[in-house]
Amino acid sequence: MDQGPKEQIGKTLYGRRKGKPLRAHLAQTYQEHYARLDIFGGMGPKPIDPVALFDQAGDLVLEVGFGGGEHLLARALEDPNSNFLGVEPFENGMAKMVRAVVAHNLTNIRLHEGDAREVLAHLPKGSLARAMVLYPDPWPKLRHHKRRFLQEDTLGAIAHCLRPGGLLQVASDIPDYISWVLRHQLHVPELSWQVDHAGCWHEAFPGWPGTRYEAKALRDGRKPCYLTFQRR
Ligand SMILES: C[S@@+](CC[C@H](N)C(=O)[O-])C[C@H]1O[C@@H](n2cnc3c(N)ncnc32)[C@H](O)[C@@H]1O
Repeated sequence: MDQGPKEQIGKTLYGRRKGKPLRAHLAQTYQEHYARLDIFGGMGPKPIDPVALFDQAGDLVLEVGFGGGEHLLARALEDPNSNFLGVEPFENGMAKMVRAVVAHNLTNIRLHEGDAREVLAHLPKGSLARAMVLYPDPWPKLRHHKRRFLQEDTLGAIAHCLRPGGLLQVASDIPDYISWVLRHQLHVPELSWQVDHAGCWHEAFPGWPGTRYEAKALRDGRKPCYLTFQRR
């Protein structure tokens, strides 16, 4: 299998990994079920074989930084024929996601608690039908911009993992992050921004169920932007 670049994963990008201690019942469900749902099978990162990972063949969809998992859960429920990979370093979000997968008895989700760059580095070339980065941490201060998840190298890694015609969907409520993504994407010629009329970047993706972070952004009066890139 032609795997993605496996150079040392560099500087930590994400913020906190732990919040309030997990309640006993949540902690127990998480401990009992995470290892079997883990993309890397409870071991350290290793090449990912999507065929072996799921009971069924189907389009492979990646969500980076799913937060509380509401969006990922909605997508996996509405599209049982596709297989979903969800990555999130925040333990509380991951524990909730594990609980939801167990409660709904979902077999089309696998998870990784950690950095999505580890997953991208170990997926086969062209294996993803779609990748979604929804409301990535904005890191607004100039000196923190290097922590933003979407950079030239991660956009390149996503392009490597997408199949020709596959889509990268990015949502953000931070105009500076949107222009940042558009600038960095120019250095990744495998991706082309899908734009057919002015203002289409304010139109939500098809079947959009929203995300928890987006609901807060809307309550605070910020306007979401939605970017779609296609793998050439
Ligand atoms: C602003 S929150 C948005 C959460 C969710 N997508 C939503 O819209 O409600 C950004 C999420 O990205 C996660 N994150 C940050 N760095 C990451 C990385 N390197 N890999 C995967 N997830 C990451 C954070 O832990 C956080 O949950």
